[in-house]
Amino acid sequence: MIPKKMEEAINKQINEEFYSAYLYLAMSGYFESVDLPGFAHWMHAQYLEEMEHGMKFWHHLVDRGGTVKLYAIQEPQREWDSPLAAFQAALEHERHITGRIHALVDLAEEVKDRAAYNLLQWYVDEQVEEEASVEAIIARLEMVGGSGNGMLMVDRELGQRQTG
Ligand code: FEO
Repeated sequence: MIPKKMEEAINKQINEEFYSAYLYLAMSGYFESVDLPGFAHWMHAQYLEEMEHGMKFWHHLVDRGGTVKLYAIQEPQREWDSPLAAFQAALEHERHITGRIHALVDLAEEVKDRAAYNLLQWYVDEQVEEEASVEAIIARLEMVGGSGNGMLMVDRELGQRQTG
């Protein structure tokens, strides 16, 4: 049986992960609207990953006899000033998520929940990857400085992201 405090904190994190999915789906729509299909594809893949993150926590609660609470998902922003601004917002969001995951690790230690602690190690590693990939794209975008050719090149690269 999962400790109540841990159950509640994971329920909140499920909401954070599904909000992340919503945010990236909104960004995917924004990129479609500015004719950058590769960027849109990358964000759609990110949306799918966030759904998986949420579901991994969902399964953990179910497997341990916890109660899943699906809180209302906040409406995300719809537009950004530029592709760079969108990715900067994504990085800020991922840093926030990293903070939430680390707080969950602290809680797992506090309540001596070994199972949650183990599960959370996967998320700790995943956050390192998430931040690094967004940072790398920001660096590319800063390098091309919004030039048409550069943007088309980055769009082609992002369009090659594998899903699943
Ligand atoms: Fe679920 Fe992007 O962290």
